[in-house]
Amino acid sequence: IDTRLTRYLDLMQRVGQFYIQQLKQSLAKNKAVGYVKYRGISSQIAKRFELGFAPPNSNLLFGFKQDSQDIADLKVMGLLCDDQYRSGKYYDLFKDRIMFPIHNNKGNIIAFGGRSCNNNFKAKYFNSPETPIFSKSKELYGLYHMRKYSRSIDYILVVEGYMDVVSLHQAGISQVVATLGTVTTVEHLNILFRTTNTIIFCFDGDKAGEKAAWRALNITLPVIKAGITIKFLFLPDKEDPDTLVKKESSQAFVKRIENAQFLSKFLFSHIKTEVDFNTIEGKTLFLERVSMLLRKINYKTYQHQLLEGLAGEVNQSIEQIESILERQDISTQSNTF
Ligand code: GTP
Ligand code: MN
Ligand code: MN
Ligand code: MN
Ligand code: MN
Repeated sequence: IDTRLTRYLDLMQRVGQFYIQQLKQSLAKNKAVGYVKYRGISSQIAKRFELGFAPPNSNLLFGFKQDSQDIADLKVMGLLCDDQYRSGKYYDLFKDRIMFPIHNNKGNIIAFGGRSCNNNFKAKYFNSPETPIFSKSKELYGLYHMRKYSRSIDYILVVEGYMDVVSLHQAGISQVVATLGTVTTVEHLNILFRTTNTIIFCFDGDKAGEKAAWRALNITLPVIKAGITIKFLFLPDKEDPDTLVKKESSQAFVKRIENAQFLSKFLFSHIKTEVDFNTIEGKTLFLERVSMLLRKINYKTYQHQLLEGLAGEVNQSIEQIESILERQDISTQSNTF
């Protein structure tokens, strides 16, 4: 098994080199290079992230001289797909896309993300499928580059996209990783906790980003422990870290990072937006929803502080709030029978 994995990693390295070479040499390179420039990516940063290009109608087979082991491995890596209509023929997964290699923490390429250079294309991005060397829920884009290019890591920003990571690096902000178009998982969090005590979620200033932030809060609650700080950085409407850091100076973006919102504040304010806090009914709902979330927290000191915060919000004593929390425990238990 070990030699098989080594072979895959070696192959992915060669594929990465192939894509880099295509960005420099393919017939369609002008459009690709134009797109990279249009996105404002410097050649230094393109090199740092090993950006490449999968040409239109490309056929990796030619690049690999029809080596049968390579062909079999490319299929396992999901980079070559069976042609449904012609047996023994294959087509490339990535065509006419800017290629973002995804590295493991040792710096080996384990997968790729590809962005269409045409805005009318149906799928703007897609990633390699899950393979023996790539599991989306366990990998973070930019983790390797963060460790390599950050002098010290006092916080980690978690952003949505490849371009967000790349642009922040270009602005001198390298303490950043992206989830690969999926939700943040507990596995991701545990990897990040090995490197930092402070995680700052910074998703896009749109509906999807807001939803992602709320989901991240829910996933984070049970794994918060002593010494961990979770914050949220909300961006102006329609901006993502990539667009904003280009519009503002990097100092302005760092200011935003410094002013990120604590989890507790986001928790209370988000639920307030869902209820009419000026009515008894709204306050009741608020109380129920917040206590439901607080029950997920295993870190008792933090849970207690949040209970005190909740008591203050609804003008009740902490004892009353605690008894509500316990009542809910009982009622959910009895619901299961
Ligand atoms: P740019 O337009 O290149 O700036 O992309 P973005 O990162 O700002 O895109 P967006 O905010 O729409 O999406 C965030 C992330 O979700 C992307 O970086 C991708 O990882 C993922 N994503 C976006 N669109 C698609 C898609 O069509 N398919 C898949 N599989 N993932 C996507
Ligand atoms: Mn978005
Ligand atoms: Mn975005
Ligand atoms: Mn973007
Ligand atoms: Mn909600």
